[in-house]
Amino acid sequence: MITQDKELAIQALKKGEIVGLPTETVYGLAANALDARAVAKIYELKKRPVDHPLIVHVSDFKQAFDLASEFPEIAQGLAEKFWPGPLTLVLPKSEVVPDLTTGGLPSVAIRFPAHPIAREVIRGAGFPLAAPSANPFGSISPTTAEHVESSFGKEAPLILDGGACQVGVESTIVGFLEGKPILLRLGGISREELEEVIGPLGVASSTAKAVAPGMLEKHYSPRTRLFWERPEETLPPSPGGRGALCFRGTEPSLAFTDIEVLSKDGDLREAAANLYSALRRLDALSLDYIVAYAFPSQGLGLAINDRLKRASSQK
Ligand code: TXA
Ligand code: MG
Repeated sequence: MITQDKELAIQALKKGEIVGLPTETVYGLAANALDARAVAKIYELKKRPVDHPLIVHVSDFKQAFDLASEFPEIAQGLAEKFWPGPLTLVLPKSEVVPDLTTGGLPSVAIRFPAHPIAREVIRGAGFPLAAPSANPFGSISPTTAEHVESSFGKEAPLILDGGACQVGVESTIVGFLEGKPILLRLGGISREELEEVIGPLGVASSTAKAVAPGMLEKHYSPRTRLFWERPEETLPPSPGGRGALCFRGTEPSLAFTDIEVLSKDGDLREAAANLYSALRRLDALSLDYIVAYAFPSQGLGLAINDRLKRASSQK
């Protein structure tokens, strides 16, 4: 059921239930992060492997400090600059965090979302909320309450409607290895913005990759075959029609049944906000395939390209 009643959502969370929660990035499937039984319901509904850790959402700095056993100075600097907002910090976990929440890892991913409804619900519940994106494992992330409902059908939990997400791609994840910051997932805060604050960022090693499923080769995928950065002359015939997903609309030189233009004015933030809805609309047309054109390799364009590349992976 979709509702606008925050109190109803808070009561459900207090009873150990799952709630679909709007954030500025994507909708999350939220439950009490400190209650392993509530967290187990998230893995079950999402069909997510239990060794894939969740992000824990807080509504103030104190709550964040309580979740971590250490909070390096660089992490504090990033938190001060970008929280509340689409940045997740991976830090050594404190004892209050159940192992199930972190997929058995000794670290915890912490995020202080900017969405006023998310903040109000966390505050009202009185505990931090574990919340992965509210989509079945591996599929397209939701940016409206209706996306969440249609992803889960009859099994959909109570969903709090907060309108369309303003950022539209998941949070950027930064981890700390031996005190040094490394970028684990591109997202709503660009690499350039981070580097302005803390200087050059390390690249995720293969071990770091393995612990961040957002880095899986295949992820965020539509049902329809998706081609990314594929030369037009090599595209197969499409008797059932084909769709295009592009930045400004000037890219395709072929005929398409349907074209989704993410930002006519060339604004990468607007494009990010439109990405998942557009992909869902094309996916719903049952076309032979969808062609995604590359976005500029800067700012949020990097996160968009990252998602499209994974969404197109056949692995
Ligand atoms: O914007 C977002 O981050 C959204 C909204 C709902 O807040 N949430 C989200 O959650 O994208 P999810 O579960 O779809 O992605 C969580 C990512 C995964 O890539 C996971 O591997 C990584 O966070 N992660 C969580 N805990 C981690 C940890 N302890 N170490 C490394 N990566 C971790
Ligand atoms: Mg996800």
